[in-house]
Amino acid sequence: MNITYNEQTRVFKLDTAHTSYCIGIVDDDNFVGHIYYGRKLTGDDLAYLMRTTENPFVPSQNNRDRTSFLDTFPMEYTGNDLGDYREGTLTVRTVGGHTAVALSYISHRIYDGKAPLKGLPATFGKDTECKTLELTCEDKVLQLQVILSYSIFEDSDAIARSVKIVNNAQDPIYLTKVLTACIDMDNEDYEMITLHGSWARERAIQTRTVMKGKQSVSSVRGESSHQEHPFMAWKKSTTTEECGDIYAMSFVYSGNFLAQIEANQFGSMRAMMGIHPHNFCWKLEAGESFQAPEVICVYSAEGIGGMTRCFHDLYRNHLIRGEYKDKKRPILINNWEATYFDFNTEKLLGIARQASELGIEMLVMDDGWFGHRNDDNTSLGDWQVNENKINGGLKYLVDEVNKLGMKFGIWFEPEMISPDSDLYRAHPDWAIAVPGRTGSLARNQYVLDLTRREVIDYVYDMVATILHSANIEYVKWDMNRQLSDVGSYGLPADRQGELYHRQVLAVYELQDRLTKEFPHLLLENCSGGGARFDAGMLYYSPQIWCSDDTDAVERLSIQAGTAMVYPLSAMGAHVSDCPNHAIGRVTPFETRGYVALAGTFGYELDVTKIPEEDRNMIPRQVAMYHKYNDLVRTGDYYRIAHYADNHYYDCYEVVAKDKSEALVTYIQVLNRPNYHSRRIHIPGLDPEQTYVIANAEDWPEIKQTEYKGDTLHYAGINIPPLWGDFKGRLMHLAAK
Ligand code: DGJ
Repeated sequence: MNITYNEQTRVFKLDTAHTSYCIGIVDDDNFVGHIYYGRKLTGDDLAYLMRTTENPFVPSQNNRDRTSFLDTFPMEYTGNDLGDYREGTLTVRTVGGHTAVALSYISHRIYDGKAPLKGLPATFGKDTECKTLELTCEDKVLQLQVILSYSIFEDSDAIARSVKIVNNAQDPIYLTKVLTACIDMDNEDYEMITLHGSWARERAIQTRTVMKGKQSVSSVRGESSHQEHPFMAWKKSTTTEECGDIYAMSFVYSGNFLAQIEANQFGSMRAMMGIHPHNFCWKLEAGESFQAPEVICVYSAEGIGGMTRCFHDLYRNHLIRGEYKDKKRPILINNWEATYFDFNTEKLLGIARQASELGIEMLVMDDGWFGHRNDDNTSLGDWQVNENKINGGLKYLVDEVNKLGMKFGIWFEPEMISPDSDLYRAHPDWAIAVPGRTGSLARNQYVLDLTRREVIDYVYDMVATILHSANIEYVKWDMNRQLSDVGSYGLPADRQGELYHRQVLAVYELQDRLTKEFPHLLLENCSGGGARFDAGMLYYSPQIWCSDDTDAVERLSIQAGTAMVYPLSAMGAHVSDCPNHAIGRVTPFETRGYVALAGTFGYELDVTKIPEEDRNMIPRQVAMYHKYNDLVRTGDYYRIAHYADNHYYDCYEVVAKDKSEALVTYIQVLNRPNYHSRRIHIPGLDPEQTYVIANAEDWPEIKQTEYKGDTLHYAGINIPPLWGDFKGRLMHLAAK
């Protein structure tokens, strides 16, 4: 890891273990250009790549064609409205109504460590673990400073980028767009990978050719969303899972975002990511600064898998925090799909009693325990225990669960307010709304206006009071509607455009306070399933609920898309009852267990009501969780085959960091008549090491139990056909 500046060539070079990133300063105007990002280079003699000697010349030699220069120069971060017609990263409106911005380099600082981003989630590391380059640029006319930060890590190939805008003028300025990262490069036949979905269908992997013009994914829903995801990658069309060039950006943020690639007339392209400019307008008073959230950039020459493993390690080591960061999580049973709103103390204790006998370690009481909430129409905001349901009180219930040797967890949806709530009757102006308009309800609820200090404090106190009232060791923090009618009774007219971002900052503040006051709490984020599964939320909670779809087959796709960026240790995954509540499919209980083992693992069913043969399988699944979770949580993840591509089977693997063992999950989604076996290649092992199939009893059809690592990778192993659809097995490989 190193960051250098060559004063002769005016080139900055950031070196991680396997990559280099180069920035150059050119011409009298000190334009900041992007030179190179890719495999690690030994030299830094790269200024020639910025094409400043080709036509058009730099402005100091040919100012008559300044726009031609601005429209082609590979910008590291862009200005606005002066001749670069590609979409840019920063736009402003001055008090005089002007929008032009031009940025020039003025100074830089290289230091050990990485500064936190005030009020925002961000990757972190000790001074010995990371280094930062801060490039300060300025628009002299506006007296606006733009500080570009780049941090690199000793143990990672990722680069963390962020941007801070400082208003040094006498007047306020309105920031109408502040994206975080931009990479201008030649379009070498790239394909863009993004993640798409819907409720119960989150993060399906989509690949498309980068075409001339703009292609983007975004959210203007106030959260990262079910629909599109704050991640994009671009790779050569020849890049595979195991080799080839791939670049990626992942946003450490949980609100509106834009991730876009614009390919232009000259065969180059601009990739960029940041807060979506939709209805964004931030008033920056004289002397104030605005901090944009962080974007993580990754380049890998080791294919899509290399990129994935880089994100996993970075997020496990430098983003996720707290007591559970490196710990096995308690196996939980959640009553949502078991009872929905129809529960009381006895019913919950009945589930807990049976669950504890089977080895389940925590009961989570989901939605419906407060106010008079017996369906999803009421009571959000009234966070008082409904003692008609929780008869005996919350403390009694928690104590009884604890007596069974189990932990207790609880559900909240703190950001919301039901029209039918005492809170709304007392404070109708606490809901986000546009005066004079009928509010658009979703799930019969509004979003609380968290731009108001009194609302933030009220919400916090309500949650904290409940947590203090009993021995609650886990919180599921849900968010079941997206923002609309974006208006605040608390903000002045010229700050209404700040609402979307302030709302996200408030959620971060609330979760920060909560995790500081309750440091032993296990927090799991959730948003109508997985609509807020993003790197921002991972800074506060080590795990996030992936999806309301717990069907084992659907989950293969949801979890493959999620695991493209996020570690398995973060993926909330449960075994639920069949027919599945989202899709009606019936899959074997055993298979549901295998698929959930790829995540945090738990149950989402009434364990007193499921078929006895399923119930009898739980102790074995619990034992497998205890046996394999350290490996699953900490190992290297490899996608081997994805049924969304091949329609028949899915296969993935986790290899221990020291290569001493590996766990391969094989799911035969659909059986086929008349085939013998399927050749699977198992990567990531030590090529010279001999591995044995440690659970050979589960693979009676495979007679040979010892293989060299390179044999398993390059020659592969024949997996026998399994009888029926939706059948799965685990293969545990252990170094001999
Ligand atoms: C959506 C979540 O994803 C579910 O697990 C459940 O908690 C419901 N909300 C409760 O309303």
